[in-house]
Amino acid sequence: MFKKISALTLVLISTFVIAQSNYPNRPITWVVPFAAGGPTDALARSIADVTSRQIGQSIIIDNSPGAGGTIGATKVARANPDGYTFLVGHMGYMGAAPALYKKLNYDPVADFEAVFRFPDTPLVLMVRNDHPAKNVKELYDYAKKNPDQVFMGNAGLGSSSHLIAALVANAAGADVKHVPYKGAGPALIDVVGGQIDGMYDQTNTAFPQITEKRVRALAVTSKTRLPQLKDVPTLNETILPGFEASTWYGIYAPKGTPKIAVEKMQNAFLKAMKDKAYTDKLQAQAIQLLPEQQYLGSSLAKHTEAEVARWKAVAAKSNIAMD
Ligand code: MLT
Repeated sequence: MFKKISALTLVLISTFVIAQSNYPNRPITWVVPFAAGGPTDALARSIADVTSRQIGQSIIIDNSPGAGGTIGATKVARANPDGYTFLVGHMGYMGAAPALYKKLNYDPVADFEAVFRFPDTPLVLMVRNDHPAKNVKELYDYAKKNPDQVFMGNAGLGSSSHLIAALVANAAGADVKHVPYKGAGPALIDVVGGQIDGMYDQTNTAFPQITEKRVRALAVTSKTRLPQLKDVPTLNETILPGFEASTWYGIYAPKGTPKIAVEKMQNAFLKAMKDKAYTDKLQAQAIQLLPEQQYLGSSLAKHTEAEVARWKAVAAKSNIAMD
């Protein structure tokens, strides 16, 4: 009984303080649970920049990597719900993690307030320039004949780079070797350097490496080809008919964060997304805009719940490595 009252008191105090303090009156922190330089970090910094201008306060990115994003998610689940700490969440640690981690120190639904959803990002399968596979079929034929000899980088168990690589390998009947990093950024550096064979990475960070010919793109995870990579086939039209995947993201606050703060942050983002020059920049990176309704915190809350359930079924069906 005492614990409940103290939590309630905490929420009431934070709400009262926020209401009196024309929130936000100091910098806000967004926790990105991967190393700097990856797609989550890059997209978060871009959205934080435009959102901060609307909310009238700076948004500082705190990179807290490790364990596929679950370390950063735990940090925010335990943070003070005062409206100054948020999590940049995504389909891995806020969707698939409960199905993959036997011991998870947070619940993506019960321990967070869903604030707003980002637009989605498809991924590109890239290999090191000197890899013998000339196309996606050759890569997976090689992987089938040589189990655990194709080294695929990812951002940790349950990251989107890991999930997509595992799902595709399972569906193709191949065994690839998963090599975890603290983020897709460090993993991509090793594909460029030839230390590992390849990886799936979101388009916003994959495109520059492909354009500069530092890696070779073999396939995309979108249903149809991307205008920016017209010559790169989809998995759907090559080895996996019907396959489609992209990384979804969202901003979350610790449970109990006052509604005033959640709504102010959400509405600042919605205003930022009305700037066509900005959304054109996102679309140039093949980032897929959503109908405005789907950006709302209420929609993200429903989406998170549905994704946690979906990944439980997916993980049960395919032998994605558990922790
Ligand atoms: C992932 O889930 O692979 C992340 O997008 C990695 C990252 O952003 O660094």
